[in-house]
Amino acid sequence: MFKFRGILINKHILLGISGGIAAYKSAELVRLLRKQGAEVRVVMTHSAMQFVSPLTFQALSGHPVHSELLDTDTEHAMGHISLARWANALVIAPATANTLAKCSHGLADDLLSTLYLAATCPIYVAPAMNQAMWHKPVTQENIQKLKSHGVIVIGPEQGAQACSETGFGRMSEPVEICRRLMTDPSTQCFSGLKVLISAGPTREPLDPVRYISNRSSGKMGYALAGAALKAGAKVTLVSGPVSLLAPVDADLVSVETAAQMHAAIMSKVSEHDIYIGAAAVADYSPLLIEKEKIKKQDEQTTLTLQKTRDILAEVAQLANRPFTVGFAAETHDLEQYALDKLARKNLDMIAANWVGQIPPSPPFSKGGENSELPTSPPLEKGDLGGFDSDQNALQVFWKNGKKNLAMTDKNHLAEQLISLIAERMEHERHDKNTA
Ligand code: PMT
Repeated sequence: MFKFRGILINKHILLGISGGIAAYKSAELVRLLRKQGAEVRVVMTHSAMQFVSPLTFQALSGHPVHSELLDTDTEHAMGHISLARWANALVIAPATANTLAKCSHGLADDLLSTLYLAATCPIYVAPAMNQAMWHKPVTQENIQKLKSHGVIVIGPEQGAQACSETGFGRMSEPVEICRRLMTDPSTQCFSGLKVLISAGPTREPLDPVRYISNRSSGKMGYALAGAALKAGAKVTLVSGPVSLLAPVDADLVSVETAAQMHAAIMSKVSEHDIYIGAAAVADYSPLLIEKEKIKKQDEQTTLTLQKTRDILAEVAQLANRPFTVGFAAETHDLEQYALDKLARKNLDMIAANWVGQIPPSPPFSKGGENSELPTSPPLEKGDLGGFDSDQNALQVFWKNGKKNLAMTDKNHLAEQLISLIAERMEHERHDKNTA
């Protein structure tokens, strides 16, 4: 249903349910939000509890439902102020005419209306009521007032109503409410984060007309930049020479050689929270660059190359380093080399891909492991996976963990990798806090 699964990872959604028949739809909303990775806490008004049991929402959210404003136990554990502070977004769905009226007038006589006043995060309301109640001037005034206070109003929709009338007043579908939250930068998993991504090949000049390079097209790195932007991040894309258009919102730094890429990344890295090294950086560059075109002479000739600086390893060694994700491009022994790079370069995560003949086994073949979404057709025999292709598959490793991302188009694959990075960052943050 949603392509970019996990875009709400680590985000805290406070769901307020007021008393209308549409309360049953909110159960589906909790499920969808959690599927996107959000943590959901539910607050119900007393009349909402007449429609659906709090037990339903407790089971679906995995947390006790809050309903009392003046409850000593609750106030001690997670009272209204801490609940309001906890939330990245407050969503009132369904929002009855009564709840909307209370919010627009600043009345705070129950937990939900008090939370509305205490919340400093973005607030969404999804009205649900009889069509005549919706059209009543006072309701419309309340809605306009809430909008003018920055509240985002979703719906209502037109159609048959539970009271057997037809018109505006049906609560928007949970999928639509979830979609709105997914496009709000403040609730996206990379909101507030700055991501530095390297992409494409490097070109190491031999003389004024020749260079050593590789087959990288930049597609993987550019797809990651697009996915990180979609997930709410600010993105700097350091790119080798490619024939792709960078996502408009990315800050593009174009480079040519490994040395230029090194300089660009090292000068930018301290401003970033995440570094993803998707570029195919030359491991060696010519020791000497001839000033004039090298002439054809002997049957054989020898080039002397020197090692380039390993950007990824240097980033990972910084004292205040970002969450560091490397790539491993291998033609054989993929897992072994990837695990070696993960440990040796001290990375937080490594995404390994084949760059030779694709092995016919998951996740590199169609229908690979952990493939919950439809995959693209398998690559043709002889296709060089990873490099230049529109598709790719990844085996992602971190300390004590691994996930296969099945063969699919690079945009979709990038979204999955971004979600996984958000998930792992949250785990690391949690582990640090509990250590
Ligand atoms: O660009 P595409 O056509 O879409 O192809 C995508 C890709 C195959 C290039 C991409 O998915 C990929 O695997 N990128 C890394 C390619 C690579 O250079 O892998 P490596 O195993 O040689 O290097 C390991 C890691 O070290 C990489 O993160 C690389 O960016 C980094 N590195 C390598 C050398 C160097 N001097 N500095 C580095 O930072």
